[in-house]
Amino acid sequence: MLTAYDYPTAKILDEAGVDCLLVGDSLGMVVLGYENTTRVTINDILHHTKAVTRGAKRAFVVADMPYLSYHVSKEEAVRNAGLLIQEGLADAVKMEGGSAIFETMQHIIDANIPVVGHLGLLPQSVLREGGYFIKGKAEKEIKKMKEEALKLQEMGAVALTLETMIAEVAKEITESLEIPVIGIGAGKDTDGQVLVYHDIIGYYHGYVPQFVKQYANVAEIASNAAKQYVSDVKNGIFPSEEHTFTKKKK
Ligand code: KIV
Repeated sequence: MLTAYDYPTAKILDEAGVDCLLVGDSLGMVVLGYENTTRVTINDILHHTKAVTRGAKRAFVVADMPYLSYHVSKEEAVRNAGLLIQEGLADAVKMEGGSAIFETMQHIIDANIPVVGHLGLLPQSVLREGGYFIKGKAEKEIKKMKEEALKLQEMGAVALTLETMIAEVAKEITESLEIPVIGIGAGKDTDGQVLVYHDIIGYYHGYVPQFVKQYANVAEIASNAAKQYVSDVKNGIFPSEEHTFTKKKK
């Protein structure tokens, strides 16, 4: 699984064989330039989900439920999740959190909307927690996450994401479940892996976590192309004859 936020990326990743595309609320940082995910709205996610599903012919598309889109009321949560499915054409929605959101999540599942759970580090809680911390260190926290993972499966979640946690804990949770577990910064023993696309291609200037493997430096390629274009225009090299319509050649 990789994140995707637009049509060309969805098409590239779909054709490259990525099984699952996530229209994640990391959109806020890597595309919209926000400091964290809390400013992302349901309309932002819907807009980008529509673009991604137009590009994805094969991959399963999961759309994130952003901050406050499922916290105000159960009715509003179902309506918002429904928008991502009905108008965005997503295959499932993803919701961050454990027992605090289970009642709402059950409502969404009962409306026949496939839901992917998300435990471990919860980026939408950054303001309350005061930062991003590795999960699965304290016994009490581990016990709670294990119970919540089982409960999510029992409720009917179709998959679970585990973010930034001690690998041994992620392994135990994965082994205890039948639904697919997709890890990010959770070691190699989950059923699948997810990363932020902009991080793996080197197209993001902000903080990149230690668990990310960078496979390309697209920012450098893009910057060199832009510099070359500026220089060509300034020096009269572009547009050349081949890029020009003349009376003789149209
Ligand atoms: O928004 C996102 O990119 C995510 C991943 C971190 C799983 O939720």
